[in-house]
Amino acid sequence: MLKDFIIPKHVGIIMDGNGRWAKKRGLLRINGHKEGMLVLKKTVESCKNLGVDYLTVYAFSTENWKRPKLEVSFLLNLLKYYINSELNYLKENNVSLKFIGSRIGLDKKIISMMEMIETETGNGKDMVFSIAFNYGGRMEITDGVKNIAQLVKNGSLLPEDIDEELISNNLYTKNMPDPDLIIRTSGEFRISNFLIWQGAYSEYYITDTLWPDFNEEELIKAFKVYNTRNRRFGGV
Ligand code: FPP
Repeated sequence: MLKDFIIPKHVGIIMDGNGRWAKKRGLLRINGHKEGMLVLKKTVESCKNLGVDYLTVYAFSTENWKRPKLEVSFLLNLLKYYINSELNYLKENNVSLKFIGSRIGLDKKIISMMEMIETETGNGKDMVFSIAFNYGGRMEITDGVKNIAQLVKNGSLLPEDIDEELISNNLYTKNMPDPDLIIRTSGEFRISNFLIWQGAYSEYYITDTLWPDFNEEELIKAFKVYNTRNRRFGGV
């Protein structure tokens, strides 16, 4: 990598386009998700090797329950498969895996697998990898507001002491820096309820590439574009 080249500390990815990738090949949408899962594995390795500290990917939104039953159950099973097949890699490579989102609505088996891999990889210090699963930014803020309201109600917090830091610390991403770069595949210019609080000052990179066609070359291209951006955080 070039001298002075900045690797974004926290990268977020909206992995979009699995369905279209499958359709283009005359396959069922679930085949696109399967391929997408393989690309996710490679992307985790690339981010870790390039020196990314935090990677957060959007795998299942609170709105995705509206999809056909077969697709929803496929995605849930894919997560179970992913957890089992990635455990060793993540442990051996010091990557700590966390899940952000709500556990409400998920079955006991999947919750216990999530907890197992979070514990097993918890000591990983090289990269924090978060999977947003059953995640919605508005729900995350709503949950945070409820926690804060409870603190006010029981007298341990004054309303005038509520500030941005307190709100950030009541989100699923507490202890993580805000994302520097958010990548979205498949050419859609939407944030789709992903890290809406945390992404206030993120740089966005949209590529037409469908998620199953995404690769390290494309990731480095996104980092190069990020390096051309002049981040002002509201200043001049
Ligand atoms: C959006 O593409 C993608 C998803 C809703 C699922 C993302 C899942 C993966 C990349 C697989 C990895 C997942 C796990 C569980 C580890 P889309 O289906 O909306 O595509 P379309 O816009 O072309 O229809």
